[in-house]
Amino acid sequence: MAEGGLAAVRPPAGDSPTADRRAEDWRAGGFGVYVHWPFCAAKCPYCDFNSHVRTGTDAARWGRALAAEVVAAARLVPGRRVDTVFFGGGTPSLMPPETVATMLEAIAAAWGLSADAEVTLEANPTSVEAGRFRGYRAAGVNRLSMGVQALDDRALKALGRMHDVAEARRAFAIARAIFPRVSFDLIYARQGQEVADWTEELAEAMAMAVDHLSLYQLTIEPGTRFGELAARGRLRGLPAAEVAATMYAATQELCAAAGMPAYEISNHARPGAESRHNLVYWRYGDYAGIGPGAHGRLTAGGVRWATEAIRTPETWLAAVESGGPATAHTPVASGEQAVEMAMMGLRLAEGIAVDRYAALAGVPFAAEAIAELVALGLVEPSEGRITVTDAGRPVLDAVLRKLLA
Ligand SMILES: C[S@@+](CC[C@H](N)C(=O)[O-])C[C@H]1O[C@@H](n2cnc3c(N)ncnc32)[C@H](O)[C@@H]1O
Ligand code: SF4
Repeated sequence: MAEGGLAAVRPPAGDSPTADRRAEDWRAGGFGVYVHWPFCAAKCPYCDFNSHVRTGTDAARWGRALAAEVVAAARLVPGRRVDTVFFGGGTPSLMPPETVATMLEAIAAAWGLSADAEVTLEANPTSVEAGRFRGYRAAGVNRLSMGVQALDDRALKALGRMHDVAEARRAFAIARAIFPRVSFDLIYARQGQEVADWTEELAEAMAMAVDHLSLYQLTIEPGTRFGELAARGRLRGLPAAEVAATMYAATQELCAAAGMPAYEISNHARPGAESRHNLVYWRYGDYAGIGPGAHGRLTAGGVRWATEAIRTPETWLAAVESGGPATAHTPVASGEQAVEMAMMGLRLAEGIAVDRYAALAGVPFAAEAIAELVALGLVEPSEGRITVTDAGRPVLDAVLRKLLA
């Protein structure tokens, strides 16, 4: 989407009573709110998230603008209850706790928060940020997700991180003492990393983890510093694809053996400790995306709307403050919804309900495609659902191409 060039299609003012099964489809995933804080203290060389280094950010002004976007989203889908809130970034642990509190008050006033709502904040593990954890807890955050990234000081340096392992461990210990639920992220298949290095690091991570871990294979994204270096052949020591695949397989095994199996390709949890917010995406529920570059899916008046906010922070802020649209709304045809639902849901170990797919697509999955994938051991049907097997997950794109052809 071009900056400022918002789609001409205008959403309706509210829900219509003509809701049919498709219009209620979002209920299978629930309703969450994503709030994007687009600022970071420094830009990491691997990261292509919508994150920007800025000084002198007026947090109160940003809080007002983000809250105004909550009100705008609630005009489109009034009368909901919010199951989950996720403060992501960028680096939301740079937000003053008062701004987090303002946002949660705005969300509760616009829709109402479920009594047991999951409220997650993504944090970088520096000591300065850990100093704000108590304030976040008091504001209503009950789950912290920390970007530890590596348990190796040299690797952290190579990833451009501003913390070392000791600082990350200290910040994590503080988080554990303050929040009922904590998780952390690691990146593997890094430069110079061998399978044994990773399994050793993973064993340390398991000892440190409580009940949830996100383990991402390093992807080299175009437009990042690593992307530029790789394009010039100057990013050395990345593991070969087969080595990365072995690391992935070892990750599945070790986590399952430790009682934290993968419930999604890169996410591991003890049963019951899954990220409920991310499940809203993967179960293809509705979610409001608030803040620069945030995406959403909102069902109103029998239409599922894809929403996308202006990416550049200053352009977004100016649009919100001038009362102009900061977020484009595009209707998603039901066939497209079926594709999106399958692409998200088949990432999950629980898979998807085949009749839900058929209701959205207007036709069921082709029996021959399923039979072929089952024969190859890539997909497993069971009790009205299909799931992608351990063997199928590393080749999920090919499985999806076959299923959705
Ligand atoms: C929004 S980002 C980071 C949140 C927080 N600012 C931080 O850095 O800790 C969420 C997670 O995505 C993962 N990530 C970002 N870029 C990645 C890449 N190129 N490859 C693999 N994982 C990546 C990192 O583990 C990161 O913690
Ligand atoms: S990884 Fe986190 S801290 Fe680094 S640039 Fe991305 S969002 Fe910012």
